[in-house]
Amino acid sequence: MVNSETTELPSVIENPKMTVIGTGYLGATHAICMAVLGFDVLGVDVDPKKIEALASGKVPFFEPGLPEKLREALDSGRLRFTTDFDEAAEFGDVHFICVGTPQAPGSYAANLTYVDSAFSELAKRITRKSLLIGKSTVPIGTAERLTKLVQEISPLGTELELAWNPEFLREGFAVEDTLHPDRLVFGVTSEWAEAQLREAFKPILDDGTPVVVADLATAELVKVAANSFLATKISYINAMAEVCEATGADVNLLATALGYDDRIGSRFLKPGLGFGGGCLPKDIRAFKYRAEELGVGHAVAFLGEVDAINIRRRVRTVDLVRELAGGSLEGVRVAALGAAFKPNSDDVRDAPALDVARMLYLEGATVIVYDPEANDNAHRAYPDLDFADSMEAALAGADVVALLTEWDEFRAADPAVIGELVTHKRVVDGRHALDTTAYRAAGWEYRALGRPVESRSVALLEDDRDSVAL
Ligand code: UDX
Repeated sequence: MVNSETTELPSVIENPKMTVIGTGYLGATHAICMAVLGFDVLGVDVDPKKIEALASGKVPFFEPGLPEKLREALDSGRLRFTTDFDEAAEFGDVHFICVGTPQAPGSYAANLTYVDSAFSELAKRITRKSLLIGKSTVPIGTAERLTKLVQEISPLGTELELAWNPEFLREGFAVEDTLHPDRLVFGVTSEWAEAQLREAFKPILDDGTPVVVADLATAELVKVAANSFLATKISYINAMAEVCEATGADVNLLATALGYDDRIGSRFLKPGLGFGGGCLPKDIRAFKYRAEELGVGHAVAFLGEVDAINIRRRVRTVDLVRELAGGSLEGVRVAALGAAFKPNSDDVRDAPALDVARMLYLEGATVIVYDPEANDNAHRAYPDLDFADSMEAALAGADVVALLTEWDEFRAADPAVIGELVTHKRVVDGRHALDTTAYRAAGWEYRALGRPVESRSVALLEDDRDSVAL
């Protein structure tokens, strides 16, 4: 006879109360969106400044649409913030851990200090059946290690369960990607954990969002594999740009022709200065490092090449500016348009734009940086560079203009009008974002990576899913 007492699933909590630990980019967005979807949410962070800002309705970073959602969530009374882990352990039925996993200093490995600490602080305090859900990007095997760790220190022992639910949101599209993700991935070790996750994501699943239920290792791997694929695609077209430079071919025509092939597709096939930010560069490095630890380094050795191609684009952009300046950067005034790692973001982590600005400066150029949103963050990261309050101020008297982040403001500038501001009409289009023909017609010398000197305008294929309505 089956003993129903022992085979029955522990009960699943409907409409679970949620905590979100870590209110940085990922956590703040997740907390706000979950409250907007109708859940009671408590956002938790060790940084009282972040908590104060969010509680008073201020998003501490630039993300289109998020301030409005924060207001909506606070007004609904469903979203609160705290620095108190006791309160978090008491409040939550499910706990999302969204703390950072930056690159460790002097190594390619991920720094897991914050993840370990968040899981431990909760595990010590939780006294009722709950689910800990990791969302941070971690090396494969972390979730298994953390399961052992939390079950050892928890008063509940193995009753305290852990799941992994990787997050794929893109900066600039964070709200859309959280409310309407392409897919959900649930890494679980029990039917209860899966059922509890289904409750926590009910409104999104009810929308028809596909879900992949997996083991913990696969869930961890999905995230780094996805980011590695995207990084590889970008470096692929940038490697082709290098071949174009050696042959006189035009990488924009190449990317357009390749993009029409549905099997290849045009998304993430934009050539230029390459990828940066808080995810792609560190994730491919940490993945390679972890694969080597696991004895399968050969399987992802190509990621070293992907990284190297990407870094070469920055050096080559500096070469183009130097060439346009006549062979030396000493005393040359460069207007650096853009500092953020991509438009519609104020994030300057591993930003190709700032790296180029810094290299130009180190070669003796006077670099005036302007970014519509990232000036403050960029100034903190590189206090030696000069910053202007407007595009016009950055352009005034420039010998060379370098377009480094493709903000709409720069795309929309009239080459004839801004040509009046500069000393020499020379532009390096690091993001293949400007109208080549219009710039040439207005008397500019125009250069772009992987494009012949006499190239004409080629409109790269755009996808609506990659443009933000601001
Ligand atoms: C990325 C992933 O897209 C997202 O799924 C994951 O959750 C986090 O990492 P994000 O860092 O916000 O998101 O930026 P993304 O839009 O992917 O762009 C990354 C970099 O690649 C940017 O520097 C961008 O300028 C560059 N890029 C992107 C290109 O150089 N060419 C392209 O075609 C696309």
